[in-house]
Amino acid sequence: MEALKIAMIGGGYVGLVSGACFSAFDTEVAVVEADPARLAALREGRIPIYEPGLTELVAEGVAKGSLSFGDDLKAAVQGADAVFIAVGTPTRRGDGHADLTYVYAAVEQVARCLNGYAVVVTKSTVPVGTGRRIAAIIEHVAPGLDVDVASNPEFLREGSAIADFMQPDRVVVGCATSRARDVLGRLYAPLITRAEQMIYTGVETAELIKYAANSFLAMKVTFINEMADLSEKLGANVMEVAHAIGLDARIGPRFLQPGPGFGGSCFPKDTLALVRIAQEAGAPSRLIEAVVAVNDARKASMSARVIAACGGSVRGATIAVLGLTFKPDTDDMRDSPSVPVVARLVEDGAHVRVHDPQGMDQARPLLPPDVTYCDSIEGALGGADALVVVTEWKAFRNLTPEAIRAAMAGNVVVDLRNIFDPAAMVAAGLRYYGIGTTPR
Ligand code: UGA
Repeated sequence: MEALKIAMIGGGYVGLVSGACFSAFDTEVAVVEADPARLAALREGRIPIYEPGLTELVAEGVAKGSLSFGDDLKAAVQGADAVFIAVGTPTRRGDGHADLTYVYAAVEQVARCLNGYAVVVTKSTVPVGTGRRIAAIIEHVAPGLDVDVASNPEFLREGSAIADFMQPDRVVVGCATSRARDVLGRLYAPLITRAEQMIYTGVETAELIKYAANSFLAMKVTFINEMADLSEKLGANVMEVAHAIGLDARIGPRFLQPGPGFGGSCFPKDTLALVRIAQEAGAPSRLIEAVVAVNDARKASMSARVIAACGGSVRGATIAVLGLTFKPDTDDMRDSPSVPVVARLVEDGAHVRVHDPQGMDQARPLLPPDVTYCDSIEGALGGADALVVVTEWKAFRNLTPEAIRAAMAGNVVVDLRNIFDPAAMVAAGLRYYGIGTTPR
């Protein structure tokens, strides 16, 4: 059978990862990127985001001719079996809705350029009802055009995007015709090892599945964060609570790691969007409303833990902050809990020295100007009165309590990710404060 051809509109995170992954299976992928600087970088093999394995996968696709980057939308979509809309959907200012300006603009352009049957697929997370609206836009711009509209939400995580894409728990395709189903079924066939992995639904259902999945996971994280706070009050250990409840197959062990609150480009945006969608549909989600509020308050309150651990004031203290990104193995700083932590410590008069393996460039515009950026862990830690771990990078886990103690001038360690063994830290002479474990 002839190789499939797809156009990927948007060379951002999702477009790049999914485009590169599809190209690995000999699908012909044309990525359309409108930003000239980004396009130039992509054409030179420079990947503007940090994602393990992505640079190599893109290079392989380009070398064998199955992956290309350009700005000619018409050339990319004509003859394509499927056109993926993978442009950004930021949170709209003011009302918490996803901003679909870029999605609709891309759809209009696609409708003007298509000259034969194609499936127009949304891969960006879009509010329920967007597929229907897209179909209406296409009908308006190019009446009678032979297209199907489908929703194919993406579930990959930053930092493990390629493995998540290549070995999906499930692939969700929302569409109304068998023709669209056949195209997307063929496209994903190389990734599917069990028939149950492929789920076909209506368009609205697929759109809702994406929000439901992210909101549920955000709720799970928020739940364990509340149990962590409760554990501290009651003298219990949340790590043991999480382990024990996670062994119940109905609960499951993943996404039960307590921390400083969830961040990133997805959970904060998608929980907020679901809240708005549910309110407008007349079926408000009290649960997710609470998740949003609890998580916002949590992120804002993390600095208070540091200040309390430092004896009530950080004025004049040197504080090492390890980890800035919202999670490890990414350079993404969006909604990272590190931002309010660092801002408050600086505001309260601390000298803050930060280190992050990948996120320092992205962090600069978001953090106060008088933060010291250190190229190494040792550089940040040396002579510090207190250490705060905000992100659980592997390199930080490898630090021994003795090395931490020897490098620091003071002995306060606030571990917002519970990466260290509390007993070993205390034995090394450190005053250790984890999350959901009683301070010693
Ligand atoms: C999330 C989902 O996990 C993906 O399935 C989804 O495709 C993606 O959003 C998206 O919609 O694009 P991602 O934002 O990359 O992926 O990151 P996660 O690994 O889910 O972490 C989200 C946040 O929750 C991070 O701040 C992380 O530190 C926090 N988290 C996660 C915890 O605090 N504890 C946990 O146990 C798990």
